[in-house]
Order: sequence, then structure tokens, then C-alpha cells
Amino acid sequence: MDGERFPDAFRSYRGKTLIQRPLCPTYVLLGVSYFLVVIGLAVALSKVAAVSSELRKVKDDLAKDPFGNDFHLFPCGANTRQWEYFSGKCYYFSLQAVPWHQAKADCERQQSQLVIVDSLAKQNFLETRTRNERFWIGLHDLHTEGVWKWLDGSNYITGFKNWKTGEPNTYLNRDEDCGQLWINGEWNDFTCNSNSYYVCEKTLPTKSTSAPKRA
Ligand code: BGC
Ligand code: CA
Repeated sequence: MDGERFPDAFRSYRGKTLIQRPLCPTYVLLGVSYFLVVIGLAVALSKVAAVSSELRKVKDDLAKDPFGNDFHLFPCGANTRQWEYFSGKCYYFSLQAVPWHQAKADCERQQSQLVIVDSLAKQNFLETRTRNERFWIGLHDLHTEGVWKWLDGSNYITGFKNWKTGEPNTYLNRDEDCGQLWINGEWNDFTCNSNSYYVCEKTLPTKSTSAPKRA
């Protein structure tokens, strides 16, 4: 009777509540959602497992590579500590004073060249290392007196300059055709066959060329 009077309400039979018919699709939906959640979790877990195993592999490789960590600490090469890093390049401050042409050749022998001082930032870096000593740079007027040239062909006229006041002066009419850093790192022209320390500059070695060979 109740069932007929309230066809959409809960039906009861001997005190037990029967499931209302329209609720059945809800349970189906719940079941499907549960299934989807389980699948989603399984996929997420397998992704996490894949990423963490990749991470473990990278860590292991880094630990095995003797140059891996050193590359960050010594970008100019862990086994060539005399090369100093600055702003993407490597610099060598010589321990011997030699004529300009010999300095140029020494740098070239080390796959580098006499430094090109083309920015205030680089000038400031160099100044902190030169201790008021004379250091040859890649600048000269060997071809035409008074026409200064950078070894790498950089434009001298429009480029950065830092001559000491009164320089270049071809002092006492001596042929001062080679550029050097001098007092406070300011530039001086000097006789090329005089002895001076020198600064070489080179691009950053790549990991493959500077990494020690594995046995
Ligand atoms: C240097 C010259 C420089 C002069 C300046 C000399 O000792 O050799 O290159 O121009 O000092 O006073
Ligand atoms: Ca001079």
C-alpha cells in the first residue's frame, strides 16, 4: 500500500528499508569515480617512481664523475688553478716578466691571447690582481705610431679606454708601442722589448675538453 502511495519514497518491508530505485545510478557513479581515483593514484605513483629513479641515476652519475662538482668550483679547470674565472672567461696572471712579443706567444701557446680590456667591469677585475706591477695587455701601435689596435680586432676608437693621465706618451721619444696595465691598473704605453708581467684571456673550457680522462 505504502509503495503504491509513495512510489518514489523509501519502501519498507518488514521494518527493513529498501533502496529507492532512482538512487541506483548514484551508486554506479560512485563506483566509477572510485575506480577512476584508484587508476589516477596508480598513474601518479608510477610517475613519482619514474622521476625519483631518474633523480637517483643523475645523483649517482654526478658522484662517479670526478669533474662534475669541481666544474662549479673551478670553471677554468680543477687541474689548472692558476687560471682565474671572471664573467664567463678565464684569466692567467703571469709569474714571469717577459717582452711583449714573448708574452703574446706564451698566451697563444696556452690557447689564449693577451687580455682585451673592453669594459669597466673587466678593468676592475684586473686591477684587483695586478698589485701596481706592469702587466702587458693585447694593445699596441706597432704598425702606425699613434694608431692603437687590439689583438682581437676590437674597435679601439669606440671601445673602452683607461689610459693613465698623460699616457700614451712615447716617453723620452722612446718607441713605446705596447700597452700595459700599470699603477692602479691604469694603462701605459711602454717599450715592447722591456720585461713586464702579462695577462692571458681565454674562453671557458668545455667540460669535455677539461675533464680528467677516466681510466
Ligand atoms: C715609463 C713611461 C711612462 C713614464 C711616465 C716611465 O717610467 O717607462 O712609459 O710614460 O714613466 O712618467
Ligand atoms: Ca708611456
